[in-house]
Amino acid sequence: MLRSLRQTRSLQGCYRISLSNTRVDLVVWPPPTTVESQSGQMKRTTLQKAKDFATFPLRALTLFHEDRWGLSSLASERFDYVAREVVGRCLDVGCGYHNKFVTKWLGGNGKGIDVFQYAGLSQEDIVEDMAHFPFEDASFDSITFIANLNHVPRSDRDAELAEAYRCLKPGGNVIVTMGNPLAELAVHKVVEWHDRLLGTRFDMDSERGMGAEEAYYLKDSEITERLVRAGFGNLTKKYFLTQWGLNHLWMGWKKSVT
Ligand SMILES: C[S@@+](CC[C@H](N)C(=O)[O-])C[C@H]1O[C@@H](n2cnc3c(N)ncnc32)[C@H](O)[C@@H]1O
Repeated sequence: MLRSLRQTRSLQGCYRISLSNTRVDLVVWPPPTTVESQSGQMKRTTLQKAKDFATFPLRALTLFHEDRWGLSSLASERFDYVAREVVGRCLDVGCGYHNKFVTKWLGGNGKGIDVFQYAGLSQEDIVEDMAHFPFEDASFDSITFIANLNHVPRSDRDAELAEAYRCLKPGGNVIVTMGNPLAELAVHKVVEWHDRLLGTRFDMDSERGMGAEEAYYLKDSEITERLVRAGFGNLTKKYFLTQWGLNHLWMGWKKSVT
């Protein structure tokens, strides 16, 4: 009988125990923060979004990359908003630690690249010259710049967006997230001081060393002008409700072939 005792853990965080022909499902606490769609993409549940909305100030001061206490980190939250807009195979530019957006939120459907070899990235994820993406034309359905375009040196921003346009399939979309200026400044400072005082290593930008041509945030006017210059159309802006509208994304589309 012992041999027939099996315990498995589903993605939803439930433990399933099978004992001969009897099956018992035990729900663990905290409940799952995300659900998985058929395509393998993860999404926060409605209950999770309500909890995240109510606890935003606490999360903004403490949860930068890792989910805890049944609450989403700021990183999970932005990945959730962006994943909802991704329309297929995705290139995530400036993917950061562990390439989490593609591996966790998109179920591996895409590729993450970065200029710096953070923990969890291999040599093949590193692109030193971001003005030339090492991909064929029209290789991706979506390209994302998550909390990233302000970290691309000013003089390289147009070149990287032009590369995004080239590597997108016709009808594909680009997604750029950017925080409200005051919120961005505040979060960067909070993360920096958290690392200094508590010895954590959440501040990716200090670990790499921010350059003179980087910025803490970009104005909407700069983002939209650069997107249009790169060729993108039908621009739309969406606020992140569970961050009280203090973060948002811009989305643009590459023209379909008619
Ligand atoms: C604030 S982190 C965001 C990381 C991740 N996308 C996220 O949302 O957690 C900014 C990222 O931009 C990357 N970066 C720096 N210079 C870049 C460049 N020229 N092109 C693309 N990414 C760059 C950094 O290495 C870093 O991973």
